[in-house]
Amino acid sequence: MSRKAIARIPASTTNLGPGFDVLGLALQLYSTVELEETESGKEVIVTGIDADKIPVTTENVGLQAAELIFERSGNQPKGLRLALTNGIPALRGLGGSGTAILGGMLTANLLCGEPFSRSEILNFACEIDGHPDNVAASLLGSLVVSVTDSNVVHTLKLNCDTDLHVVVAIPDFPLSTKEARKVLPGFVEFKDAVHNVSRSSLLVAAVATGNLEMLSHAMADRLHQPYRISLIPGYDEIAEAATKAGALSVALSGAGPTIAAYCTTAMHEVAEKMSQAFARHQVACDVKILPIDANGATVQFIHSTNREPV
Ligand code: HSE
Repeated sequence: MSRKAIARIPASTTNLGPGFDVLGLALQLYSTVELEETESGKEVIVTGIDADKIPVTTENVGLQAAELIFERSGNQPKGLRLALTNGIPALRGLGGSGTAILGGMLTANLLCGEPFSRSEILNFACEIDGHPDNVAASLLGSLVVSVTDSNVVHTLKLNCDTDLHVVVAIPDFPLSTKEARKVLPGFVEFKDAVHNVSRSSLLVAAVATGNLEMLSHAMADRLHQPYRISLIPGYDEIAEAATKAGALSVALSGAGPTIAAYCTTAMHEVAEKMSQAFARHQVACDVKILPIDANGATVQFIHSTNREPV
């Protein structure tokens, strides 16, 4: 009987404006990773959205993540086959690499007999992804606050009102997190730091107490967006169009280039206006209305035998 596991991992939108590298929200948009122990070699198969942009070599982060789990648990598979069915546009600020990393780790952990807890998996995933916000939200679901203290990630998950939807306008050009981090300054003004602490705190309080209308005061950012929006044609106009159409607030999704509008009503109108505003800047975009994923990543064995069905 072949040993095989499958994980389903939600996309994430992070920062939510002021919560740079701290806040992450899981979205109902999924990738799946299947991992199988084989007799020899390493094989990666990628299907789905942007399959041509994701490596199928040993450079694949999902495979690297799976191998890390085998290695750290003292297991040595003869061979591995990893199949990623990608549902998350690549390099668009929706946590695609984080989902692949978690998929590789969760399936490998199950095949190894679950030597690691979810919090250990989260720490390993952060080592590869470089920041905790995407992987924490994708692993746990809903809104997650992450703090790294002495190289250990501590998280708290907040449930979200199911009325909250994120309208994402995903432009047709990629932007790597690495590139989008290069434009950030080395220092920020004290008043700008205070600005972000106040908004980020209000945002968490708004979600915790169900006062979502407060999001309209809670998502302005001075740490990263002012430097990144020059990489996204028409950002201000798109944000304004979404707000006028009824969004509570708008922010870059992660490092961009996707723009995320937070809504409890008027989602279709917001989606249409964002798409039109991008088009005025000669950028084609895919718009999706996404509810929040409340549960995070799941993993299970796939029981397959070579017997013919009877
Ligand atoms: N917090 C990270 C950043 C998210 O803004 O660089 C990247 O997806």
